[in-house]
Amino acid sequence: MPRDRRDYYYRKARKEGYRSRAAYKLKQISERFNLINKGSTVVDLGASPGGWCQIARELSGGKVVGVDILPINEIEGVETIKGDIRLDSTIETIRGLIKKEGADVVLCDAAPNLSGSWSYDHARSIDLATSALLCARKILKPGGGFAVKVFQGDMFPDFLNKVRGYFEKVQAFSPQASRKQSAEIYVIGKQLINDAVKLNEVYTVTIEDVGADGDGIAKIDDFVVFVKRGKVGETLKIRIRDVKTRFGFGEIIP
Ligand SMILES: C[S@@+](CC[C@H](N)C(=O)[O-])C[C@H]1O[C@@H](n2cnc3c(N)ncnc32)[C@H](O)[C@@H]1O
Repeated sequence: MPRDRRDYYYRKARKEGYRSRAAYKLKQISERFNLINKGSTVVDLGASPGGWCQIARELSGGKVVGVDILPINEIEGVETIKGDIRLDSTIETIRGLIKKEGADVVLCDAAPNLSGSWSYDHARSIDLATSALLCARKILKPGGGFAVKVFQGDMFPDFLNKVRGYFEKVQAFSPQASRKQSAEIYVIGKQLINDAVKLNEVYTVTIEDVGADGDGIAKIDDFVVFVKRGKVGETLKIRIRDVKTRFGFGEIIP
């Protein structure tokens, strides 16, 4: 009898109507990190047969987009894309389906077909996870969250550091539903750091509005920057003095 058929989570998934035992991994990740909230827009990369999409839809009730090179049978309330997550064209198709503001959460449980060679499978898993990170940076809202599967190996610490460069809080996590002998681990990133605007850099901006405190409001690639003494309509040179998750502060360079 295949190992899966004796497995607790396999039987539980069958009983509870989930398409994969992996569904429980996402449930445990989301519970632990408070990743998917009511109304979250979620993009699930490497989503077939669809267990994570089912959980994402249950938790958010909002827009869920599943992407895979394999077909995903219809799931109520979930939109699907057949495509390779490593291609720009797939990311553009995802962008077309989510609202202009972007996704709240990007998930990736994608895995290469296993060759049996540990180092080769590890390298391909890192390649997929790196593509997922790139996609997350392109489609997440500032402050958005990310969870990605990686097979452990010598490139893992570098990958973890890379994720640390883009999210304020990053942690590696093994959900209970992962098999004890599995090489997989999940990297969870919370609060995507905006990288359109850099501290101490100089930008030329136009003041579009005025905030409640009377500061001018400008946008750099959709990122809001408050500019003291900036007046609507003025085009100014500013230096970025502080960067928060969702906005920054700039001062006028005379
Ligand atoms: C472990 S399964 C995902 C299971 C899913 N989370 C669930 O709960 O049903 C991994 C998936 O990654 C997909 N995958 C692998 N490489 C991919 C790629 N380059 N682009 C899109 N999907 C990919 C595979 O086709 C496979 O369906």
